[in-house]
Amino acid sequence: MTLPALPSIDARRYAETFAVFLEHSLEYDLMAEEIERVIRHNLDGPLRMLDIGAGTGCVIERLSRQPTIRLAYYEAFEPNPKHLSGLKSVMAHLDFPYRIHEEGFSETTPISGRFDFVLFSHSLYWMINPATAMRHAAAALNPGGVAMALIQGPYGAHTLFSLFEDQYQRLTPMLQNNRISSHELVAGLRAAGVEPEVRMLRTPIDMTELLDGCHPTELSEFISFLLQLEFSALPRRLQGDIVRHIDGGCVETDGRLLWYLPNASVLITRADG
Ligand SMILES: C[S@@+](CC[C@H](N)C(=O)[O-])C[C@H]1O[C@@H](n2cnc3c(N)ncnc32)[C@H](O)[C@@H]1O
Repeated sequence: MTLPALPSIDARRYAETFAVFLEHSLEYDLMAEEIERVIRHNLDGPLRMLDIGAGTGCVIERLSRQPTIRLAYYEAFEPNPKHLSGLKSVMAHLDFPYRIHEEGFSETTPISGRFDFVLFSHSLYWMINPATAMRHAAAALNPGGVAMALIQGPYGAHTLFSLFEDQYQRLTPMLQNNRISSHELVAGLRAAGVEPEVRMLRTPIDMTELLDGCHPTELSEFISFLLQLEFSALPRRLQGDIVRHIDGGCVETDGRLLWYLPNASVLITRADG
């Protein structure tokens, strides 16, 4: 049997499908609470923060509104032009010094200066070796500093790959490698002799409208983001299998249909002095 062959989505489609994902994600409040908890628990005083894969700036925007967290300096890496424009307009309204690198980060990117808090919020999927990239950034921590990765746990979207990836031929690599989860990151860190602190966050996606049968285009965009390919180009039968798999993992709560996609918080801390 010949498998359907299709490329992974490009940077423009990535930004479009990510926007649909964000509209339905209920993850961000829980992730933001976890970021704030980690900072309050581990760090005090004005922070120097390095945000790798800052996206449209929603994380720094929210963090800057927290009265008990003070930012002394912010530096970000973000290569996607669509996301950069959002990030720049957020930063223009904030009152601490910052620098934005309009480029991607990798395990060989030079980092100048020292930081108290390094964040990879759902950006490690873009690194060739996520554990090495995280260790590289953590090497720029001040004593007592923390490097934090928010990354999908090995559930939901991650399982789509083991179930369905052999049913089509992917012609180009994913820009965002959604096969990577906390499971692979933690294994990579341990292989390098680093024992991270890991917490699973019970983060849901609100699937209520997506699965009501009335929003097929939006559902298709959402799954295109998960799989990083055009869902609508897959054979109908496979589309049905994927939608049923997602549907079956949802739970009705307070009149909403929630799909739990636990995110992991993975921390590396640098010992004091
Ligand atoms: C899933 S988004 C997350 C954005 C933001 N941190 C958040 O939590 O909403 C991943 C981001 O990583 C960016 N990215 C892609 N390649 C990157 C790289 N090599 N270095 C840093 N960021 C990268 C993407 O452009 C995108 O904005």
